[in-house]
Amino acid sequence: MTYIPSRQDAEDLFLKYNKSESLYRHAKQVEVTLRYFAKKYGEDEEKWSIIGFLHDLDYEMYPDLHCQKTEEILRENSYPEDYIRAIMAHGYGMRTDVRPESQMEKILYATDELTGLINATCLMRPSKSVLDLSYKSFKKKYKDKKFAAGVDRSIIENGAQMLNMDLEELVNETLAALSEYAEEAQLKGNL
Ligand SMILES: [Fe+2]
Ligand SMILES: [Fe+2]
Repeated sequence: MTYIPSRQDAEDLFLKYNKSESLYRHAKQVEVTLRYFAKKYGEDEEKWSIIGFLHDLDYEMYPDLHCQKTEEILRENSYPEDYIRAIMAHGYGMRTDVRPESQMEKILYATDELTGLINATCLMRPSKSVLDLSYKSFKKKYKDKKFAAGVDRSIIENGAQMLNMDLEELVNETLAALSEYAEEAQLKGNL
């Protein structure tokens, strides 16, 4: 029988390889974003959550082998192939040649960098919160190339295109996701 990991299994595995609080925070933000979209599309929320949560599993210990090492670890732990494929696809064009194909893979690809940029934007705000962040204020930071310069905006735009969404729709959906689960995403700030 195929092993189906539980959310707790994923938590245990993540903590085995990660000590960093900022990586945990990022993992949770991507997780809740995928969960939001799974719910919206009537898909498996636990499965999408786990994939979002584990996508950067190897990043702390093996940054130079990012994606490759996660593939290895997940195989060793008997994760199903479609979980592994989805995670590989988030590194498409950078770390892997696995092209995002399913809706879930495209959402992971499109929102990974985007949630990072939203997180950085929230931290700059007096409220430190996503709950009062509008598309308009986010867009100002998005356009400022000096702000969070490490975030490649073209990946976000490619991702939106894959999803047949414009940037505004993708950002608004992601803001809605992070707001719905603001506490878990550590983005409630002081609101
Ligand atoms: Fe990554
Ligand atoms: Fe990531």
